[in-house]
Amino acid sequence: MLITPQHLIQWKQQHKRIAVLTAWDYAIASILDRAGIEVILVGDSMAMVALGHETTLPLTLEEIIHHAKAVRRGVKEALMIVDLPFLTYQESWQQAMHSAGRILKETNAGAVKLEGGYPAIAETVSRLVQAGIPVMGHVGLTPQSVRQTGFRQQGKSSEAGEKILSEAIALEEAGAFAIVIEHVPTELAKAITERLTIPTIGIGAGVHCDGQVLVTSDVLGLGTWKPKFAKNYLDLNSLITKAVQAYGEEVRSGEFPVD
Ligand code: KIV
Repeated sequence: MLITPQHLIQWKQQHKRIAVLTAWDYAIASILDRAGIEVILVGDSMAMVALGHETTLPLTLEEIIHHAKAVRRGVKEALMIVDLPFLTYQESWQQAMHSAGRILKETNAGAVKLEGGYPAIAETVSRLVQAGIPVMGHVGLTPQSVRQTGFRQQGKSSEAGEKILSEAIALEEAGAFAIVIEHVPTELAKAITERLTIPTIGIGAGVHCDGQVLVTSDVLGLGTWKPKFAKNYLDLNSLITKAVQAYGEEVRSGEFPVD
């Protein structure tokens, strides 16, 4: 079954939780899809975990389209969502339309995701949705604003929490079909989840969201660092290191290849 944004909305009503993971290439995407992950996000975190940048800011539209095409080849059932990179949508809704349109046409994505709330971003979301482009929002810690906020938890004061709640409401009213809530206090994510009729997908936002998202390299333990709220289900970094060291030793000793 090909999963659509409408399924996610139905699942919220049915209290069925949604598992989301990121992917940036064909191999990982095929594994996630076959494992039954409902939503695969071609997230701009790939700038950091796959391309080695310090932030998500340098990622270009061309780069994310290139990676999303590879992910698409591996995804048969999951809903594939692609991030709009920094400054490919913030200038104007026309710029956003152009960027999101390219993503849908060139990668066959099911939806796009963009960061931030109202008023300008909500207006942009409304324009995209009216043009037939499904949009996922993203509030709380928005890594494209890292130069203003750092990677710190957001929404800690009641005033800041109110602002994030009103941004989430504005995004729902603009037609977003789901919203990522990143690194905010659990109670704030709970209040947003209860207030919205569209699903919330949390990351570092506690247990009350309708779904959870993690960056796949954190799940697999591929990198040497992960945020505190992420969980390693595997230590791939050590496993790969051991495997390639064994290969190197066998090549040097002449044990591999065998005739
Ligand atoms: O880019 C990304 O991986 C994301 C998730 C952390 C939600 O936006």
